[in-house]
Amino acid sequence: MASNKTVIKPYPEILEIPCNDIEFGELIGHGGTCSVLKGVWKTKKDFPVAIKRLNHFREIEIVVLRKIKADEEQKHIGRKFITEILGVSKKDHMDCMIMEYAANGSLHHYLSQKREQEQLLENETFFTWTRQGALAIQYLHELDIIHRDIKSLNFLITDKYNLKVCDFGISCITDETVTTTYTGSLPWMAPENFEAFFKGRGSRIMVSKRSDIYSYGVVIWEMRTLREPHKTEKVDGNYPLNDEMPSKLKDMMHSCWETDRMKRPSILDILQTMQDLSITMEVEVKDFIEMPDERPFPGGDNNAVNVEKRLTEVGKYNTLL
Ligand SMILES: Nc1ncnc2c1ncn2[C@@H]1O[C@H](COP(=O)(O)OP(=O)(O)OP(=O)(O)O)[C@@H](O)[C@H]1O
Ligand SMILES: [Mg+2]
Repeated sequence: MASNKTVIKPYPEILEIPCNDIEFGELIGHGGTCSVLKGVWKTKKDFPVAIKRLNHFREIEIVVLRKIKADEEQKHIGRKFITEILGVSKKDHMDCMIMEYAANGSLHHYLSQKREQEQLLENETFFTWTRQGALAIQYLHELDIIHRDIKSLNFLITDKYNLKVCDFGISCITDETVTTTYTGSLPWMAPENFEAFFKGRGSRIMVSKRSDIYSYGVVIWEMRTLREPHKTEKVDGNYPLNDEMPSKLKDMMHSCWETDRMKRPSILDILQTMQDLSITMEVEVKDFIEMPDERPFPGGDNNAVNVEKRLTEVGKYNTLL
């Protein structure tokens, strides 16, 4: 008897873009397992894109980006501060993620330039970016996505000078704490993750949203001090904070870095503290530095997919879909 089982695809599919539609340009970044190129989508009026060329297909990154894409109503403002995937492509046997392009590079790079110019971030920029980053994390946490690699290299600055989080290569989807194998970036890493890191690959740790909070505390510290965590020694487990920093801000960073993760603030607490502080300091904080970045193709453009098939073949993340 024929099965009447309905196949449900709750998440939108991701467009497979023929590689000839994309012009591959210069190298703009790289990580351990990928290189990122600038490019244009020729058949979309030369829309600028970033091409993340993967040494191996990363299911989890696609799963997370699809979960975000699924939120079509996009009522949560935090959705605007997440780098969007436009499609996938394949060139020279390599899988490529075609992403919206952030013209001003990574936050890490931007802060280095400021440091070279011996300038601090203007208060308006500092408060707006810390708010945008926190809204992005709030949105992810509401979707039960733990980023797990929050650091200044994984925030991008768009041509309109808004901040967006990227790189879901080691994220996980969970309602709270789960046990998982470990990878990550040491200077931003919460202490509960150190042990597994030093034990090496394959060791298991507990991950939670509060690990993202620890790391985001380091990113706020980077934005305020323009110092680099990998070149700075911690004092009593904390990155050094200078005396002229408002005590409310210092207290908040210290609470992000609490060894007992349950004592760390939630992302909502961070948003509230930063808002209170900006009011006290009489800094005008906007949701966007300039108008929201235009959506590449409002209404979506998802009508073809091979990713779905590949995910089914891979099988192991099917329970997440
Ligand atoms: N959409 C984008 N627009 C502009 N630059 C980008 C974009 N995506 C990535 N980059 C640049 O490439 C760098 C690496 O990208 P990403 O963080 O996504 O890769 P990665 O996952 O860290 O690599 P790996 O996991 O292999 O270490 C970023 O820090 C940034 O400088
Ligand atoms: Mg990265």
